[in-house]
Parts: sequence; structure tokens; C-alpha cells
Amino acid sequence: MAHMLIVDDERSICELLEISFRKEGHRVEVATNGEAAKRRLASQMFDIVVSDICMPDMDGVELLRYCKEVSPATIFILITGVPTIDTAIGAVNFGADRYVIKGDRLLDELRPAIQQVAESLALKKEAGYLRRELRRLTGLDHMIGTAPKMRAIFELIENIAPQSSRVLITGESGTGKELVARAIHENSARAKDPFITINCGAFPETLLESELFGYMKGAFTGANENRRGLFQAAHGGTLFLDEIGNMSVTMQVKLYRVLQEGKVRPIGSTDESDVDVRVIAATNKDLEKEIAEERFREDLYYRLSVIPIHLPPLRERREDIPLLAREFLERFSKSMGKNVDGIDPEAMRRLEVYDWPGNVRELENTIERAVALESGNRVSTEALPDRIRSHSQGSMVLPPHNGNGATLPQEGLNLEEHIQQIERSYLLAALEQSGGVRTQAAGLLKMSYRSFRHYAKKYGV
Ligand SMILES: Nc1ncnc2c1ncn2[C@@H]1O[C@H](COP(=O)(O)OP(=O)(O)OP(=O)(O)O)[C@@H](O)[C@H]1O
Ligand SMILES: [Mg+2]
Repeated sequence: MAHMLIVDDERSICELLEISFRKEGHRVEVATNGEAAKRRLASQMFDIVVSDICMPDMDGVELLRYCKEVSPATIFILITGVPTIDTAIGAVNFGADRYVIKGDRLLDELRPAIQQVAESLALKKEAGYLRRELRRLTGLDHMIGTAPKMRAIFELIENIAPQSSRVLITGESGTGKELVARAIHENSARAKDPFITINCGAFPETLLESELFGYMKGAFTGANENRRGLFQAAHGGTLFLDEIGNMSVTMQVKLYRVLQEGKVRPIGSTDESDVDVRVIAATNKDLEKEIAEERFREDLYYRLSVIPIHLPPLRERREDIPLLAREFLERFSKSMGKNVDGIDPEAMRRLEVYDWPGNVRELENTIERAVALESGNRVSTEALPDRIRSHSQGSMVLPPHNGNGATLPQEGLNLEEHIQQIERSYLLAALEQSGGVRTQAAGLLKMSYRSFRHYAKKYGV
């Protein structure tokens, strides 16, 4: 049966549809405003959305557009009490799957559409799964991100991948540096040839040298035979030098020479051989600072950073958190054979306000743990680690006007949205503290019950 979301500011319509479709065996959820619906769409997977067009806070067409962006496969049905040609055209143009007019026949009109969706669902799920698997094996699609910074990076990757120019990827731990390196390789003509990774920080200097360049039999004790280095093994393909910032200065000199001349000489050999390898390097260190402190050679830096790519930390692209969380949820739920297919709005809010020092990897591990712990079919706050559950929203709260000023992210922020988020989170916090007693929650926020109700309605809490 289908998982449905009903969106309408008219409670009677919500109730009518909820009761009828529940009776028919569907899993039905309700949102009474556009914002609440958006949050659900961000945190869960729905097969069908039935949404009103005219709502006080948001136009149904805007919700439709959002839905098609985060979840293109969801069937979206628009309903309206005041049919006009304009809205009908808008609905169709933005990809609504149906357009139904409210009235006595609303249920009769909706029922066959929903039935049809439910029937083809099993089939679709299978096909969607196959398509996603296919995409995951190719191209950039296993990298998720809709934040403008990430889109720009994807575009850059597609543009530079076909050439063989060297790339230096920087970014905090867990931001996806290795994933970017692979995407570059996979989108290049070298894709059929090897992609070889070496963690330069994990080897003592002499070992790293023999790993990279190879050695001749007898070159040192223990060298019992000739061995090719990774440069040669990667011939025609890509060599990914991870943690380049941890490479010793002597090795940096040797690497510089290889990059300069395009030739490698195995340890103990007098012959050099040409290698055709694209080098991609990555580090979570600030190399310019390392250069200033003479731990990294400037000449090597310029050789490596022909194309620099900087991956922003997750806390600077929070809009990607719900998408990533859902992707990981689907992945782990499947691999663990569980039926966890959504994230509670409150749990999602926690994920969205947390600072993620370990970035995408930390989020991935968090969801894996949550799926493992969860016995129901949605991730609840209880399944989140303490540090995330009890994270005070320090970064979201504007400091008082005492002259200290707020910290503004480099790219600026949408103040109105930001303040709304703050209002909403205090509202939830007050409800939590008062055990759901609204009059008490209003008191905690020093507001009248009337204004509390107004806000609660506005934010769908
Ligand atoms: N945009 C993304 N979409 C989907 N998964 C991602 C994304 N970015 C990172 N990941 C996942 O997060 C994890 C960490 O990514 P990756 O290993 O590429 O990070 P890293 O920057 O190399 O980290 P480190 O500096 O610790 O080596 C991986 O499991 C990766 O698949
Ligand atoms: Mg890495």
C-alpha cells in the first residue's frame, strides 16, 4: 500500500482524506501547512502527495516544485477549491501528476488515481532501485548535494575531468575528498584504467618511496625481487595521493622531480621510465600555512594545485543534510534488512542544527547507528547519540545586542528564515520542557497563549 502525505490548511479535508485512505490500507500522514509538508518531504519518502493549491503560507505549486526536486519519483496530486485555467496550466507545467477539483466527487476522483499508484508501486520500486544502482556505479551521482557550493563543484568536476590536469582537493575530514577524486577519475577517459589510492600519511618515508616508485632486487635488505611502484601500476590511469600534507619534505622533493619530468626511477635502478599518470592529491591541512611554516614545499604545491577544489564543511551546506540523511537511511535500511524508511521531524531538526565536526562521514555513521538501533520504522531522537540529541543550538541563536555581534557565515544568510528557524526551535523546546502543555510552554516563552497558538500554527508544531 502507498505511503501518502495529505497537505491542506482545511482540517476537514485532511480528516476526510486521512480517514478514507487509511481505511483502504494506506499509510497516511497529514500536514496542515506548506512548511510542515516541506519538512516531512525532506525527512521521509512518500509515494504520493495530495496537496491543496491555496494555502496561507505557501502555494501548492511551490510545494510541488520542491517535492519534484527532493523526491522526483513521488506522485504529486494537486487539489483545488477554486479551479482556474492559470493554476491548471501551472500545475501541469511544474509536473503535477494529476489535478483534481475539490467538491462532492473529490474522493471518487482521487481514489482511482491512488489505486493505480499503489498497484504500480511494487514495480516502480524495483525499477527505481535498479536505476539508482546503475547511477551509483557511474558518474557523479553517488555524490549528493544541492547546495550551491556543491553544485558548483560538480560542474567543475565535469568540466575538468576529461583533461589530465592535476587536482588538489582540500577540506576537513569526512567532507568527501576521496569521493571527488573517484568522480574525477570516473568521468575521464582514464576511467577504464586503474584508480590507485595511497595514504601518504600512513607510511614511513622509505616505505612510501618504495611503494610509489618501486625498487630493484637487492636495492636494500629485504628487496628480494624487482617490484613496480604505484606510479607504474597506475599507468594510463589516476594516482590519488591522500593526506599529502603528511608527506615528509624529502619525499616531497622526490615527488616534485617525478611530476616535473614525468619519469620514475625505481630505488636501486639507473633507468628511468616514462609514466602517464594523472595525479590527484588531497589533504585536510591548510597547505598555505604548512608552506609558511616550511613543512610543505611551495614548488610542489604549485605543481599539484593546478586545479584546486575546496570542499566546504557540512555545517556550511546544511540544506544537504536531509538529502544525505535520507540517502544513508535508504542504504543502511536495505543493507541491514530493516524497514526504517523515515526520520522523525524532531530527529531531523537535531541533525540539521548539529555542527558535524566529522562532516558527511559522521552523518553517515550516525544514520547507520540509528538504523541499527531503531526498532520502529522511523528514526527517532532516541536513536541519536547524546552529543547530537543534546546539542545546544548555539550556532543558531543570535547573541543579544551587547556589542559582541553575531557571526555571519561568509556567504551570508537568509535572516528571515534564520529567525523563523530559531522561533520554531524555541517553540519545540518549550513544548518539550512543558511536557506538551501549551499554556505552560507559552509561559516559558513569556507570551500569551494566543500568540503561542499563532506561532504553533505558523510552524506546524
Ligand atoms: N556528497 C556526498 N554524497 C554522498 N556521500 C558522501 C558525500 N560526501 C562524502 N560522502 C561519504 O562520506 C564518507 C566520507 O567521504 P570521504 O572518504 O570521501 O571523505 P574524505 O574527505 O576523504 O575524509 P578524510 O579526510 O577523513 O579522508 C564516505 O563514506 C563517503 O561515501
Ligand atoms: Mg579521505
